Amino acid sequence: MPVAFRKAQVLYVMMMLNVFVCVLMSVLWNLGHDKSGRRAVQAPTEAERGSFWNREQRRLDFIYNLTELPDWSNDTGPLNPCDPDYRVHTQISDYNSLPQRFQDFLLHMHCRTYPMLINQPHVCEDTPFLLLVVKSLTPHFDRRQAIRETWGRAGVLANRTVATVFLLGNTMSIDHFPDLLPMLGHEAELHNDLLQWDYRDTFFNLTLKEILFLEWFSQNCPHAQYILKGDDDVLVNTLRIIDFLEGLSENQSRDLFIGDVISNAGPHRNRKLKYFIPESVFVGQYPPYAGGGGYLYSGDLALRLHSVSPQVVLYPIDDVYTGMCLKKLGLVPEKHSGFKTFDIEERYKYNTCVYRRLMLVHSRTPQELLKIWSGIVRPELDCL
Ligand SMILES: *[C@@H]1O[C@H](CO)[C@@H](O)[C@H](O)[C@H]1NC(C)=O
Ligand SMILES: *[C@@H]1O[C@H](CO)[C@@H](O)[C@H](O)[C@H]1NC(C)=O
Ligand SMILES: *[C@@H]1O[C@H](CO)[C@@H](O)[C@H](O)[C@H]1NC(C)=O
Ligand SMILES: *[C@@H]1O[C@H](CO)[C@@H](O)[C@H](O)[C@H]1NC(C)=O
Ligand SMILES: *[C@@H]1O[C@H](CO)[C@@H](O)[C@H](O)[C@H]1NC(C)=O
Repeated sequence: MPVAFRKAQVLYVMMMLNVFVCVLMSVLWNLGHDKSGRRAVQAPTEAERGSFWNREQRRLDFIYNLTELPDWSNDTGPLNPCDPDYRVHTQISDYNSLPQRFQDFLLHMHCRTYPMLINQPHVCEDTPFLLLVVKSLTPHFDRRQAIRETWGRAGVLANRTVATVFLLGNTMSIDHFPDLLPMLGHEAELHNDLLQWDYRDTFFNLTLKEILFLEWFSQNCPHAQYILKGDDDVLVNTLRIIDFLEGLSENQSRDLFIGDVISNAGPHRNRKLKYFIPESVFVGQYPPYAGGGGYLYSGDLALRLHSVSPQVVLYPIDDVYTGMCLKKLGLVPEKHSGFKTFDIEERYKYNTCVYRRLMLVHSRTPQELLKIWSGIVRPELDCL
């Protein structure tokens, strides 16, 4: 066969293949989208219609052009997101019989901005390689100090810049806290590592702590390379984490989000549990999420989480909420065996060589932190 003829034949076959792929793609697109270009999604189930969070999420999806007009479209949501949302009285069937924390949460669910009481605009001046972000509560002075003296010491570690901030809401007299503000002011001046916002610091408001931090990060620390976010009762092996991060390729690093990942979970329906969520508030499965005790992610991803978060209705469990935001970004958090949010075997509790291999353990008292950390950083100890 002449070469020119064979070339033409190959070209023809390629063209036909191209046409076929194009037709296939447009058929698939039309299957997934209606004429306006919106993604066609399944109509809400009866259960979803009965759940406030699900309905509010539908409304947001519509506003962000992700779904068709919901049939409750004459409901425009609260006018001012930071006024109490009294629609909940009529729109949640069992509102009056829900535990108080749900009533508090639902009434203020749309408010995402609170004034800052204490800021540290300069923490990230030396662009940190790793930013340690600790969720704390005002009265936990000893936990914060133990972290500063151990795994959270700011400065240079293993030739990398580490910065630390503690996240705080406000202690309100309604929750019977004594007045700790003067003490806190003193601590802030001494250490320059406290961030505080003026909202009521409760378990259901931890999601606020998350989004207010992301907002702060995007404004004050957008070039930090990595973030470790954890509770104030965890031990973090900062050395091991820096070592791990240095081994990442550029591709692995951009979408990094690792921790103790929980998959195939859903809301608990037992009213006695801390994580109880009633059907009238949420139905459905949770996306994979990393337990809030501590997780590690990239600064780049934090910026994307910040920009996607307005598209996700606040959920009263903060780590599930972050999982929902990751899902909106099309990402899945990755499980890493170095994160022990359910602790390690009792017999290893003071085994330094075990800690050297781990990244994070929950939970440890301030005294335990000091005791264990002094072993981790002891240079003469050889572990296999
Ligand atoms: C939604 O789509 C309409 C029409 O296609 C467009 O004008 C509008 O800007 C979009 N809104 C958002 C938030 O993307
Ligand atoms: C929508 O409007 C109709 C008619 O005004 C009203 O009966 C219905 O309750 C409204 N739906 C909601 C969710 O407000
Ligand atoms: C320390 O880090 C800097 C830049 O991050 C690098 O240039 C230098 O070589 C490092 N030094 C050592 C001893 O690894
Ligand atoms: C969260 O904080 C706001 C502002 O202080 C408060 O109105 C609301 O009741 C709090 N929610 C919960 C569940 O504590
Ligand atoms: C990194 O990602 C880019 C674009 O997604 C890809 O082209 C490249 O091959 C990837 N590199 C590695 C080492 O995986």
